Amino acid sequence: MNHGQFYKADALVAAVHRDAGGIFAGFRAAHAYGRIYAGTFVATPVAKTLSRAAHFQGTRVPVTTRLSGASGDPTKEPSNVVAMATKFYLPDGTVTDLIGITLPVFFARTPEEFLAFTDAHTADPATGEPDVAKLKAFAAAHPNGGRFLLLMQKQPAVVSFAQVSYRPLHAYRFVNAAGVGRWARYHWEPEAGVASQPVEELAKQPRDYLYDEFERRLHRGPVVFRLELELAQEGDPVDDPSAIWPNGRERVVVGRLELLRPITEVENGDPEMMHDPTAVTDGIEVSPDDQIIAARRGAYLVSLAQRTGGWQRRGELATAPPILTATTVSKEWTCLRFISTRLPLRRPSSSSPRSSTSDRAARRSLATAPTSSSRCITAALLTRTSRKGRAASGSASITTGPIAAAWS
Ligand code: HEM
Repeated sequence: MNHGQFYKADALVAAVHRDAGGIFAGFRAAHAYGRIYAGTFVATPVAKTLSRAAHFQGTRVPVTTRLSGASGDPTKEPSNVVAMATKFYLPDGTVTDLIGITLPVFFARTPEEFLAFTDAHTADPATGEPDVAKLKAFAAAHPNGGRFLLLMQKQPAVVSFAQVSYRPLHAYRFVNAAGVGRWARYHWEPEAGVASQPVEELAKQPRDYLYDEFERRLHRGPVVFRLELELAQEGDPVDDPSAIWPNGRERVVVGRLELLRPITEVENGDPEMMHDPTAVTDGIEVSPDDQIIAARRGAYLVSLAQRTGGWQRRGELATAPPILTATTVSKEWTCLRFISTRLPLRRPSSSSPRSSTSDRAARRSLATAPTSSSRCITAALLTRTSRKGRAASGSASITTGPIAAAWS
């Protein structure tokens, strides 16, 4: 039975924090550290025969993709589980999200199973390791969860965010213009091919290694993924992301994603950037009996409220002078520290085309700052630039030249 989106939402997020080893203020409870990239998606001709969704009709649509490691601890390096959360910007001004991960299957069918798993999986503070006896008991009581644990023991680490398959895991119903529906699971398949390495090898690299490697690829050209639908057969469970479907199900290529360049949440005009697996669009439906997908929306909203300060903070922001919204820049790149120490937030003079002293200081610090901080400063500068542009042009959009150019 589906209990609705806020069922056990608080408990689920608390369990995710415990599993991560604590609350890391300002960060997502899970997949805390990540970077965002802009690109485009074009559906193949067959896509519209399966779904009437706007981005399945063949028109090129802008996308952003957030690549992340799995941990809720932002200081941890990615390992054998990484993720790719994509937002499609649809022609009617709405968005639809698709969240993929490198898990072969999920470890739970219900919120209760999720809580039992995280309880068993959370490290014992005394040893720093999960309690093996608890994990064995969980596996014995939950066969799908047990199989997940076995699969994960064997799963190697990635060599690149561009060379791994991402799976959204849930089944969705794709409905075409004639009203005909088919259940299917998504897969993102890398054009560069799949490659892996031992977990111990990746562990030798610094936390940002995979992101920097990805960005070096982007300098050479777009990073491309195929979007495939694995079509369900009669009897395949469509309400259980912990159930594996039999091998050999028909796969249909429905689109091509090209990632082009890094972008920031601020440049994109979406400082909080939540991805929601239930944010589908007309022509794609969520399974009403999938208890995990239902619970995810509530848990993600709780995490969003925690990391942004909730509605109380939103009220504060609404009454603040517009330039202060730069402080809502993602804290992922330690932006608040940099903005407060290097970029005094004074309202820029829209009449002066010259850089302010603080802008020039920030640009100088770009040369020496570590990557994460440079990205932060770039974000802040872009915000200031686009706000100056907005003041001058009267445009309501925060995303001015660069993003439009990349997407045109
Ligand atoms: C009941 C089950 C689950 C719970 C409680 C849960 C919890 C969370 C939470 C609290 C966040 C942070 C959200 C935010 O602050 O924006 C998150 C993010 C995420 N979760 Fe889950 N999750 C669940 C299932 C899944 C599944 C099945 C997948 C696999 C597709 C998944 C993949 C992700 C990814 C990729 C992100 C990062 C999204 C981003 O980059 O914005 N989660 N999860």
